Amino acid sequence: MMPASSLPRLVAIGSGKGGVGKTWLAITLAHALARAGRRVLLFDADLGLANVDIQLGLVPPHDLAAVTSGAVPMARAVCSHRGGFDIVAGRSGAGVLATLDAPALAGLLDQLRDLSAEYDCTILDLGAGLDRAVRRMARFADTLLVVATEEPTSLTDAYAVLKLHAQDGGRDARVVVNQASNAGAGGRTYATLARACATFLGRTPPLAGIVRRDERVRDAIRRQELLLVRHPTSTAAADVEALAASVGVGAPSLV
Ligand SMILES: Nc1ncnc2c1ncn2[C@@H]1O[C@H](COP(=O)(O)OP(=O)(O)OP(=O)(O)O)[C@@H](O)[C@H]1O
Ligand SMILES: [Mg+2]
Repeated sequence: MMPASSLPRLVAIGSGKGGVGKTWLAITLAHALARAGRRVLLFDADLGLANVDIQLGLVPPHDLAAVTSGAVPMARAVCSHRGGFDIVAGRSGAGVLATLDAPALAGLLDQLRDLSAEYDCTILDLGAGLDRAVRRMARFADTLLVVATEEPTSLTDAYAVLKLHAQDGGRDARVVVNQASNAGAGGRTYATLARACATFLGRTPPLAGIVRRDERVRDAIRRQELLLVRHPTSTAAADVEALAASVGVGAPSLV
Protein backbone atom coordinates (compact mmCIF):
# COMPACT_ATOMS: atom_id res chain seq x y z
CA MET A 1 0.00 0.00 0.00
CA MET A 2 1.29 3.46 -0.82
CA PRO A 3 2.36 5.68 2.06
CA ALA A 4 -0.24 8.39 2.76
CA SER A 5 2.39 11.12 2.45
CA SER A 6 2.95 10.34 -1.24
CA LEU A 7 -0.71 10.70 -2.15
CA PRO A 8 -1.58 14.11 -3.63
CA ARG A 9 -4.06 15.79 -1.31
CA LEU A 10 -6.16 17.40 -4.04
CA VAL A 11 -6.61 15.62 -7.36
CA ALA A 12 -8.70 17.23 -10.11
CA ILE A 13 -10.03 15.27 -13.06
CA GLY A 14 -10.53 17.31 -16.23
CA SER A 15 -10.64 16.85 -19.98
CA GLY A 16 -11.97 19.82 -21.88
CA LYS A 17 -14.15 17.59 -24.03
CA GLY A 18 -17.34 16.29 -22.45
CA GLY A 19 -18.40 12.70 -22.10
CA VAL A 20 -14.94 11.11 -21.95
CA GLY A 21 -15.54 9.48 -18.55
CA LYS A 22 -14.41 12.07 -15.97
CA THR A 23 -17.28 11.52 -13.55
CA TRP A 24 -17.14 7.76 -13.74
CA LEU A 25 -13.35 7.83 -13.28
CA ALA A 26 -13.60 10.26 -10.34
CA ILE A 27 -16.11 7.98 -8.61
CA THR A 28 -14.22 4.78 -9.32
CA LEU A 29 -10.85 6.25 -8.37
CA ALA A 30 -12.34 7.53 -5.10
CA HIS A 31 -13.68 4.06 -4.43
CA ALA A 32 -10.38 2.33 -5.29
CA LEU A 33 -8.46 4.67 -2.97
CA ALA A 34 -11.02 4.10 -0.21
CA ARG A 35 -10.57 0.36 -0.62
CA ALA A 36 -6.82 0.87 -0.27
CA GLY A 37 -7.52 2.33 3.16
CA ARG A 38 -7.52 6.04 2.32
CA ARG A 39 -9.93 8.60 3.70
CA VAL A 40 -11.35 10.05 0.49
CA LEU A 41 -13.66 12.94 -0.31
CA LEU A 42 -15.22 13.19 -3.77
CA PHE A 43 -16.25 16.72 -4.69
CA ASP A 44 -18.58 17.30 -7.62
CA ALA A 45 -16.91 20.36 -9.11
CA ASP A 46 -19.01 20.30 -12.26
CA LEU A 47 -20.70 23.51 -11.28
CA GLY A 48 -22.94 23.67 -14.31
CA LEU A 49 -24.24 20.14 -14.66
CA ALA A 50 -23.45 18.16 -11.56
CA ASN A 51 -23.79 14.44 -12.19
CA VAL A 52 -22.02 12.46 -9.49
CA ASP A 53 -25.43 12.25 -7.80
CA ILE A 54 -26.98 10.72 -10.92
CA GLN A 55 -24.26 8.11 -11.50
CA LEU A 56 -24.56 7.02 -7.87
CA GLY A 57 -28.30 7.49 -7.38
CA LEU A 58 -27.77 9.91 -4.49
CA VAL A 59 -29.94 12.64 -3.11
CA PRO A 60 -27.47 15.09 -1.54
CA PRO A 61 -28.56 16.44 1.87
CA HIS A 62 -27.96 20.01 0.72
CA ASP A 63 -27.44 21.60 -2.61
CA LEU A 64 -24.05 23.24 -3.12
CA ALA A 65 -25.95 26.44 -3.82
CA ALA A 66 -26.89 26.50 -0.14
CA VAL A 67 -23.19 26.22 0.70
CA THR A 68 -22.11 29.05 -1.58
CA SER A 69 -24.90 31.29 -0.31
CA GLY A 70 -23.53 30.79 3.20
CA ALA A 71 -26.76 29.18 4.43
CA VAL A 72 -25.08 25.83 5.14
CA PRO A 73 -21.42 25.04 5.96
CA MET A 74 -19.80 22.70 3.44
CA ALA A 75 -19.33 20.03 6.12
CA ARG A 76 -23.13 19.65 6.31
CA ALA A 77 -23.34 18.95 2.60
CA VAL A 78 -21.16 15.84 2.98
CA CYS A 79 -22.77 12.46 2.57
CA SER A 80 -21.14 9.10 3.18
CA HIS A 81 -21.28 6.50 0.46
CA ARG A 82 -21.45 2.82 1.27
CA GLY A 83 -18.33 2.43 -0.91
CA GLY A 84 -16.39 3.90 2.01
CA PHE A 85 -15.84 7.45 0.79
CA ASP A 86 -17.54 10.78 1.38
CA ILE A 87 -19.15 12.98 -1.23
CA VAL A 88 -20.10 16.60 -1.68
CA ALA A 89 -22.48 16.48 -4.60
CA GLY A 90 -24.31 19.15 -6.48
CA ARG A 91 -27.87 18.58 -7.55
CA SER A 92 -28.21 17.75 -11.20
CA GLY A 93 -29.65 20.48 -13.28
CA ALA A 94 -29.37 23.05 -10.47
CA GLY A 95 -26.88 24.89 -12.64
CA VAL A 96 -26.83 27.98 -10.45
CA LEU A 97 -23.19 27.46 -9.54
CA ALA A 98 -22.09 27.96 -13.12
CA THR A 99 -22.59 31.67 -12.62
CA LEU A 100 -20.48 32.00 -9.47
CA ASP A 101 -18.32 35.08 -9.55
CA ALA A 102 -14.63 34.92 -8.68
CA PRO A 103 -14.97 35.86 -4.97
CA ALA A 104 -17.77 33.32 -4.45
CA LEU A 105 -15.70 30.62 -6.14
CA ALA A 106 -12.70 31.54 -3.99
CA GLY A 107 -14.93 31.26 -0.91
CA LEU A 108 -16.12 27.82 -2.00
CA LEU A 109 -12.54 26.66 -2.53
CA ASP A 110 -11.52 28.01 0.89
CA GLN A 111 -14.24 25.88 2.45
CA LEU A 112 -13.17 22.90 0.39
CA ARG A 113 -9.55 23.33 1.45
CA ASP A 114 -10.58 23.29 5.12
CA LEU A 115 -12.83 20.29 4.65
CA SER A 116 -10.20 18.37 2.67
CA ALA A 117 -7.81 18.62 5.63
CA GLU A 118 -9.90 15.84 7.19
CA TYR A 119 -9.12 13.46 4.31
CA ASP A 120 -6.05 11.81 2.83
CA CYS A 121 -7.21 12.72 -0.64
CA THR A 122 -9.92 14.86 -2.21
CA ILE A 123 -10.95 14.19 -5.79
CA LEU A 124 -12.57 16.96 -7.85
CA ASP A 125 -14.72 15.97 -10.79
CA LEU A 126 -14.39 18.99 -13.09
CA GLY A 127 -16.91 20.00 -15.70
CA ALA A 128 -16.26 19.90 -19.42
CA GLY A 129 -15.01 23.01 -21.19
CA LEU A 130 -12.24 25.40 -20.36
CA ASP A 131 -14.04 28.24 -18.68
CA ARG A 132 -12.69 30.35 -15.86
CA ALA A 133 -14.19 28.24 -13.05
CA VAL A 134 -12.85 24.98 -14.49
CA ARG A 135 -9.37 26.48 -14.86
CA ARG A 136 -9.48 27.93 -11.37
CA MET A 137 -10.39 24.57 -9.87
CA ALA A 138 -7.74 22.75 -11.90
CA ARG A 139 -5.16 25.16 -10.53
CA PHE A 140 -6.46 24.62 -7.00
CA ALA A 141 -5.50 20.94 -7.22
CA ASP A 142 -2.07 19.52 -6.43
CA THR A 143 -2.41 17.12 -9.33
CA LEU A 144 -4.53 17.44 -12.46
CA LEU A 145 -5.44 14.23 -14.24
CA VAL A 146 -6.30 15.08 -17.84
CA VAL A 147 -8.55 12.43 -19.35
CA ALA A 148 -8.22 11.78 -23.09
CA THR A 149 -9.73 9.18 -25.38
CA GLU A 150 -8.60 8.04 -28.80
CA GLU A 151 -10.89 10.54 -30.52
CA PRO A 152 -9.01 13.39 -32.19
CA THR A 153 -11.37 16.00 -30.66
CA SER A 154 -10.61 14.65 -27.21
CA LEU A 155 -6.87 14.82 -27.88
CA THR A 156 -7.10 18.44 -29.05
CA ASP A 157 -9.09 19.39 -25.96
CA ALA A 158 -6.73 17.51 -23.64
CA TYR A 159 -3.84 19.40 -25.20
CA ALA A 160 -5.69 22.71 -24.68
CA VAL A 161 -6.27 21.83 -21.01
CA LEU A 162 -2.59 21.01 -20.52
CA LYS A 163 -1.52 24.21 -22.26
CA LEU A 164 -3.82 26.46 -20.23
CA HIS A 165 -2.87 24.66 -17.03
CA ALA A 166 0.81 25.38 -17.73
CA GLN A 167 -0.04 29.03 -18.53
CA ASP A 168 -2.04 29.31 -15.33
CA GLY A 169 0.95 28.12 -13.31
CA GLY A 170 -0.77 24.83 -12.48
CA ARG A 171 1.33 22.19 -10.80
CA ASP A 172 1.63 18.51 -11.57
CA ALA A 173 -0.46 17.44 -14.61
CA ARG A 174 -0.69 13.86 -15.83
CA VAL A 175 -2.57 12.06 -18.57
CA VAL A 176 -5.15 9.28 -18.26
CA VAL A 177 -6.22 7.59 -21.47
CA ASN A 178 -9.78 6.29 -21.02
CA GLN A 179 -11.90 4.02 -23.20
CA ALA A 180 -8.76 2.69 -24.89
CA SER A 181 -9.40 -0.13 -27.39
CA ASN A 182 -6.42 -1.94 -25.88
CA ALA A 183 -3.25 -1.11 -23.98
CA GLY A 184 -1.21 -0.61 -27.18
CA ALA A 185 -3.71 1.82 -28.69
CA GLY A 186 -3.91 3.67 -25.37
CA GLY A 187 -0.13 3.98 -25.34
CA ARG A 188 -0.16 5.44 -28.84
CA THR A 189 -2.84 7.96 -27.85
CA TYR A 190 -0.67 9.07 -24.95
CA ALA A 191 2.42 9.25 -27.18
CA THR A 192 0.61 11.54 -29.65
CA LEU A 193 -0.43 13.89 -26.87
CA ALA A 194 2.98 13.77 -25.20
CA ARG A 195 4.70 14.63 -28.48
CA ALA A 196 2.50 17.69 -29.01
CA CYS A 197 3.21 18.83 -25.46
CA ALA A 198 6.96 18.30 -25.81
CA THR A 199 7.05 20.20 -29.12
CA PHE A 200 4.80 23.12 -28.30
CA LEU A 201 4.87 23.42 -24.51
CA GLY A 202 8.41 22.23 -23.84
CA ARG A 203 7.22 19.77 -21.20
CA THR A 204 5.89 16.24 -21.31
CA PRO A 205 3.09 15.30 -18.91
CA PRO A 206 3.64 11.81 -17.49
CA LEU A 207 1.18 9.01 -18.16
CA ALA A 208 -0.88 8.25 -15.06
CA GLY A 209 -2.67 5.27 -16.54
CA ILE A 210 -4.63 3.66 -19.34
CA VAL A 211 -8.20 2.48 -18.74
CA ARG A 212 -9.59 0.18 -21.39
CA ARG A 213 -13.05 0.44 -22.88
CA ASP A 214 -15.24 -2.07 -21.13
CA GLU A 215 -18.98 -2.60 -21.57
CA ARG A 216 -19.28 -3.41 -17.88
CA VAL A 217 -18.64 0.28 -17.11
CA ARG A 218 -21.85 1.15 -18.90
CA ASP A 219 -23.67 -1.66 -17.10
CA ALA A 220 -22.51 -0.48 -13.66
CA ILE A 221 -23.51 3.13 -14.41
CA ARG A 222 -26.90 2.02 -15.69
CA ARG A 223 -27.50 0.22 -12.41
CA GLN A 224 -26.09 3.11 -10.38
CA GLU A 225 -23.58 0.75 -8.84
CA LEU A 226 -19.84 0.96 -8.30
CA LEU A 227 -17.82 -0.93 -10.91
CA LEU A 228 -15.48 -2.41 -8.30
CA VAL A 229 -18.53 -3.92 -6.58
CA ARG A 230 -20.59 -4.85 -9.61
CA HIS A 231 -17.75 -6.13 -11.81
CA PRO A 232 -14.68 -6.46 -9.58
CA THR A 233 -12.76 -8.63 -12.03
CA SER A 234 -13.41 -6.52 -15.13
CA THR A 235 -10.55 -5.07 -17.15
CA ALA A 236 -11.64 -1.50 -16.40
CA ALA A 237 -11.69 -2.32 -12.66
CA ALA A 238 -8.11 -3.61 -12.83
CA ASP A 239 -7.07 -0.53 -14.80
CA VAL A 240 -8.57 1.92 -12.30
CA GLU A 241 -6.96 0.04 -9.42
CA ALA A 242 -3.60 0.37 -11.17
CA LEU A 243 -4.34 4.06 -11.72
CA ALA A 244 -5.11 4.50 -8.01
CA ALA A 245 -1.79 2.90 -7.14
CA SER A 246 0.09 5.12 -9.60
CA VAL A 247 -1.54 8.39 -8.50
CA GLY A 248 0.52 8.36 -5.33
CA VAL A 249 3.77 7.80 -7.16
CA GLY A 250 5.98 10.68 -8.20
CA ALA A 251 3.72 13.34 -6.73
CA PRO A 252 5.45 16.48 -5.53
CA SER A 253 5.89 16.37 -1.81
CA LEU A 254 3.06 18.37 -0.30
CA VAL A 255 2.74 19.06 3.35
N1 LIG B 1 -13.66 2.76 -19.70
C1 LIG B 1 -14.90 2.89 -20.22
N2 LIG B 1 -15.45 1.88 -20.95
C2 LIG B 1 -16.68 1.98 -21.48
N3 LIG B 1 -17.48 3.05 -21.35
C3 LIG B 1 -17.01 4.10 -20.63
C4 LIG B 1 -15.70 4.08 -20.03
N4 LIG B 1 -15.54 5.26 -19.40
C5 LIG B 1 -16.67 5.97 -19.60
N5 LIG B 1 -17.54 5.29 -20.33
C6 LIG B 1 -18.89 5.74 -20.82
O1 LIG B 1 -18.83 7.13 -21.02
C7 LIG B 1 -20.01 7.71 -20.52
C8 LIG B 1 -19.71 9.11 -20.05
O2 LIG B 1 -19.03 9.05 -18.81
P1 LIG B 1 -19.04 10.28 -17.79
O3 LIG B 1 -20.40 10.80 -17.58
O4 LIG B 1 -18.28 9.83 -16.61
O5 LIG B 1 -18.21 11.34 -18.66
P2 LIG B 1 -17.85 12.84 -18.28
O6 LIG B 1 -16.53 13.12 -18.90
O7 LIG B 1 -17.98 13.06 -16.83
O8 LIG B 1 -19.01 13.63 -19.03
P3 LIG B 1 -19.40 15.19 -18.85
O9 LIG B 1 -18.32 15.97 -19.56
O10 LIG B 1 -20.73 15.29 -19.51
O11 LIG B 1 -19.41 15.47 -17.38
C9 LIG B 1 -20.48 6.78 -19.41
O12 LIG B 1 -21.86 6.80 -19.31
C10 LIG B 1 -19.99 5.44 -19.83
O13 LIG B 1 -21.02 4.78 -20.54
MG1 LIG C 1 -19.15 14.45 -15.72
